[in-house]
Amino acid sequence: MIFYLEENRIFVLETENTHYVFGIDSAGYNRHLHWGAKCDPADYAFTEIGDENSNHSMLDEYRQELTPFGSTVYRTCDLKAQFADGCREVALRYTGYRLEDDTLRVAFADAYYPLQVRLGYRVYPGLDIIKRWVEVENTGSAPISFERLFSAGFSLPGMDPYTFENTNGAWGGEFLPCRTVLDGGNLVYESHRGASNHNQSPYFIAHRGATETRGAVYFGSLAYSGNFKVIAGRDLYGITRVSLGMNDFDFSHTLEPGAHLETPPVYCGKTEGLGEMSRQMNRFCLEHLLPSRFRAETLPVLYNSWEATEFNVNVADQTRLAEIAAGIGVELFVMDDGWFGARNNDRAGLGDWFVNPAKFPGGLDELIGNVNALGMDFGLWVEPEMVNVNSHLYQAHPDWTIEIPGKPHAEGRNQRILDLTRREVQDYIIETMTNVFSSAEISYVKWDMNRTFTDYYSGALPPERQGEVAHRYVLGLYRCMRELTARFPDILFEGCSAGGNRFDLGILSYFPQIWASDDTDALCRAEIQTGYSYGYPMSVVSAHVSACPNHQTLRVTPLETRFAVAAFGICGYECNFCDLSREDFAAVKAQIALYKQWREVLQKGRFYRGRTF
Ligand code: DGJ
Repeated sequence: MIFYLEENRIFVLETENTHYVFGIDSAGYNRHLHWGAKCDPADYAFTEIGDENSNHSMLDEYRQELTPFGSTVYRTCDLKAQFADGCREVALRYTGYRLEDDTLRVAFADAYYPLQVRLGYRVYPGLDIIKRWVEVENTGSAPISFERLFSAGFSLPGMDPYTFENTNGAWGGEFLPCRTVLDGGNLVYESHRGASNHNQSPYFIAHRGATETRGAVYFGSLAYSGNFKVIAGRDLYGITRVSLGMNDFDFSHTLEPGAHLETPPVYCGKTEGLGEMSRQMNRFCLEHLLPSRFRAETLPVLYNSWEATEFNVNVADQTRLAEIAAGIGVELFVMDDGWFGARNNDRAGLGDWFVNPAKFPGGLDELIGNVNALGMDFGLWVEPEMVNVNSHLYQAHPDWTIEIPGKPHAEGRNQRILDLTRREVQDYIIETMTNVFSSAEISYVKWDMNRTFTDYYSGALPPERQGEVAHRYVLGLYRCMRELTARFPDILFEGCSAGGNRFDLGILSYFPQIWASDDTDALCRAEIQTGYSYGYPMSVVSAHVSACPNHQTLRVTPLETRFAVAAFGICGYECNFCDLSREDFAAVKAQIALYKQWREVLQKGRFYRGRTF
């Protein structure tokens, strides 16, 4: 519930166990007042600006919901714009609010220039989660350029230093937790890689020595799949603030007259203990964020062919694997990379989304017919955002990639990124994927994306708008995902980006599960999956039992251990079933039966971490 106290211009966002309170002072500034236990809002009051001077700026000490750059504010800002005459200061003053059910928009206008800014808030019954976002609108007759446009600013209660938790990972070692006590200056977590990335995470978790069960925990997670930035700072008065949103690194966005832009949302909350934070986020994802078609569904046990056959797929070998998989209890058989174009290795084929006739003379239908006859659904791997130079698509449209004309291109896995800022490229992806997905009985799609960004440049944008490439790419990607998930509502999509290079609430708004890591070693995975569990439900973390010795680490682990770890996510299998001994076959069969018996609890239950790393 959200209510407004007219007399002292205070907004109260009431969640299940907390109050989040801010107001508008007599000068028209937004002022954060409280985030924590429920209190009597009548007690809240502002100190009004006194004798303002730039050496000890009162304005600079304010706790605000969003801090624009300008005047005597020297702390980290959340919004920086440039107007047509070159002015780069924004002077926001309150103009009104709109409250509709659980959604509040508080409006501000620049006192001197034609810019409107609305702060959006939404609460969810029964939960301690708040959604926040920012809308900007150019109400004038000349363009306005944004150099920074974050989604939210937070002021954390009290004066003592907070501990911040984030991740410090890499390919094959995603989401490894890291902790820093912030007692002064700024702490930054960010991505420059065009995706929400293997390294650091688009969220903040802040506490003062909280455990799983005790201590106040403040957190906020950005639902965005591109470059992000989290800045936490503690000033000389002991106030800790956090800002997060799209990264302002290599960023600009110009709004034409009459145009508006909405930032990606942040989902934030305050809980008692880290365990309750995870459970709040888990429930929020399962009840509100994931695609509605799959929220209540338990997800199938799948077999994925990648580690068994890599690019060497053909109808006979895949059918052989499918026969064993069906006998073991697998419900969904997934053929990974290698089925299309000239895709015999990673140097060719991406972009040519037609079935390779030498590998599948009867098209996909023959294999899918075999799989369905064995009582399993069929799933397929695609990587729609990419192209190999060695492909028909690149030969036909060399201008469709993100690359800087006249400069050598940095290669990554021998592939280039299609320029999704272009409408015609988005349309191509939507139509070619529609053809693939409707060409046969396809129940599941693994949507991969195997390289990070370099050479940020779009031939479709003028020089002054090149800073828009990274964000426009994400908008283009979301359009493709929105359109394809609407056209194919019953297909279960799994996100993937060379493992967990793009694991965030933005992807999860479209795809209900994500491949967590190419490192399937059980010991590594236990740590990686623990990292994921802080921000995401275990029911979105895709986890497979793979071969032994492990392909990435060469470690030998018992089959039982590999299952015990995979069972805490969406359990699947990826080892070569043709290599299974009679004992292992029986053991895997028993594991799958056990998982099916308990998967409602494992996938949808309340998650409690025991010993942590
Ligand atoms: C990277 C993924 O993470 C793997 O699981 C596999 O799908 C390969 N790509 C295929 O190229």
